[in-house]
Amino acid sequence: MLVLGIVGSPRREGRTASLVNAALQGAASTGADTERIYLVDYQIRPFVGQGGAEEGVRFVPSELSALCTTADALVLGAPVYFGEINGLTKDFMDSVRIPNENGKPALGIAIAGGSGKGLYSGVQSLYHWFYHRQMRAIDPTPATRFVMNATLAELYHSGERLAQMASQLRPFAGAGREDRWAELAAYYADLPYLRCDMVDEFMTLAHQLVHTRRDHPNWEQAMDALRLAHESMMRGERAAAARQAVQAYDLLLQA
Ligand SMILES: Cc1cc2nc3c(=O)[nH]c(=O)nc-3n(C[C@H](O)[C@H](O)[C@H](O)COP(=O)(O)O)c2cc1C
Repeated sequence: MLVLGIVGSPRREGRTASLVNAALQGAASTGADTERIYLVDYQIRPFVGQGGAEEGVRFVPSELSALCTTADALVLGAPVYFGEINGLTKDFMDSVRIPNENGKPALGIAIAGGSGKGLYSGVQSLYHWFYHRQMRAIDPTPATRFVMNATLAELYHSGERLAQMASQLRPFAGAGREDRWAELAAYYADLPYLRCDMVDEFMTLAHQLVHTRRDHPNWEQAMDALRLAHESMMRGERAAAARQAVQAYDLLLQA
């Protein structure tokens, strides 16, 4: 059984690679075979075809599609650039061909490794793709540099779970591709983070800083701002919550 880790960042030793590695280590601990590849090593081009997805063969090398087809489970990691996954990963997603994708277990990781903005929108792109490709994706993992160690530990467990799922494949029911959407939509409706927006992002980022920068001179002030943000959220006042969460975040971001 093979768990394939796909690194979408052009940086070989960057955060995306570390995060993908953690998931692969978890998978390997269950006895699964693992392999890590870097998209930057393949000749991947933007999809500039005129017709349908079948033209993808022109833009992603066949050996890469074959590897994704052979793999029993995928770990896909992408860096966040300007609030979205990077273009290299998107180009791969646009054109790779995986004929046996129904129910294939998958795990997506998006690392917003700078400001942290885009941690949810990045991971949402990956999971929209998994959904459209009818894979059985687990544990959306929005990552930031503020809580890397905790995320690496979580990914180890996600990797274990992914490998266990790969040993008992569960395709979505339905005679053909178009018959499966009810099951798919229901499955993805229960995954976390897929409905989060930029207000949720700043709430999360403020939380991460408050919990990891307790020695910061602005900590008390930031905590007050975050408390107000929570109260605004409880009242459904999301615009006010956004302002207060950003204030808490700004207070703690600079050393
Ligand atoms: C063009 C570009 C845009 C970026 N935009 C964002 C961003 O919107 N939010 C963020 O948190 N980090 C952003 N970053 C920082 C990357 O997410 C960060 O460097 C991350 O660690 C990259 O992954 P890597 O270490 O695997 O290369 C950006 C980096 C680049 C090069």
